Amino acid sequence: MFKSLPCLPEDPTFKLFNQFKADANPKKVNLGIGLYFDREGMPKVFDTVKKAVSELDVNNFNYLPIGGDREFLRLAGEFVFGEVFDPGRLAMQATCGGTQACRCFADLSLEVLHEREIQIAEPTWVNYHALFGAMKISRFNHCGEDGMVNAEAYYNAARNAPIGSAFLIQGGLAHNPTGVNLSLEQMEELIRILEERRMILFMDMAYLGFGEGIEQDRKYVQLCYEKLERFAVAISFSKNASMYEQRCGALFVKTVNGPCTESQLQKSIRETISTPPGFGQEVMANILKNYRQEWEAEVEAAREDIDWRRNQLVDRLPAEFMRVRETRGMFGLLPLSREQALRLREEFSIYILDNGRVNFAGVKACDLDYIAEGVRSVK
Ligand code: LMR
Repeated sequence: MFKSLPCLPEDPTFKLFNQFKADANPKKVNLGIGLYFDREGMPKVFDTVKKAVSELDVNNFNYLPIGGDREFLRLAGEFVFGEVFDPGRLAMQATCGGTQACRCFADLSLEVLHEREIQIAEPTWVNYHALFGAMKISRFNHCGEDGMVNAEAYYNAARNAPIGSAFLIQGGLAHNPTGVNLSLEQMEELIRILEERRMILFMDMAYLGFGEGIEQDRKYVQLCYEKLERFAVAISFSKNASMYEQRCGALFVKTVNGPCTESQLQKSIRETISTPPGFGQEVMANILKNYRQEWEAEVEAAREDIDWRRNQLVDRLPAEFMRVRETRGMFGLLPLSREQALRLREEFSIYILDNGRVNFAGVKACDLDYIAEGVRSVK
């Protein structure tokens, strides 16, 4: 039994993280996996999260309903949609991180879409290919040759996609991995085409607050919600509350039939994890209810800190890296080849993804010169 079972390749992001951990070089630098560390390189736990955890009810770890905690969903909805939040127009589902919100949307799409196809811009988060594996995935280029976002490619993909199929937007204003994003104006044009073709837009909003700031990032969601008949958004508190391992996420689907849409989402949850994990929901519900202003200030400070580190690094690099300054969110692509990324790893113990992706939230202030020296040396 299992003798001839092939060993599958490790996930590239986690493989790199494991290689980093095993590296004995005291100068090693982890710019691979998307985790938020502070400038000193310490894992970040927000003060509001610590406070909310200390107030957790430890006398009841019974199951939550399959849909999740309604209070958490209402508060999360208010955060994501702001003043346009209308629970009467949304199906809401708590999920095991943003990842499961994606799977849940894929399951719903298989059920409701006549055309089981989704448009995904490349490069993108590697996991989508598996999460949407039961659908037909059509790919197009997120960036033009100049490394900036290619809005025309988005419009063309929407124009050429089957009527009534799905369209993915990654990261809102904080794209993973490129860090370059469609502007609100470009989104308006895309929305016009999507609406014309009766397509459903799925936005994976994994980094709300880390792009251009909470208010601006939220406008992206609001615009889609207001202008599109068919819209769904996945959110995650992994990054903006730095609670990765707690897997706290949610899926919101615009609908005129909330109860039946939610029953479909619940089917997907029941068949995969039975009920969503409660720890993160309880913590976030407490924060959003009692410490929201304080937490949002922490998110803003985190975003400014990431931008500071990005700019400090770019300041130390040659002119050809200047466009990296335009990137937003945790990630950006350094214009390096796979070989150069490998040399960085082998010669300097600086870990970035093979495609040149850097996690700016992993840059320690004391490593700025060392990273710049490594990059200059392999280029
Ligand atoms: C990343 O892209 O580094 C993170 O989102 C981790 C992951 O799950 O891939």
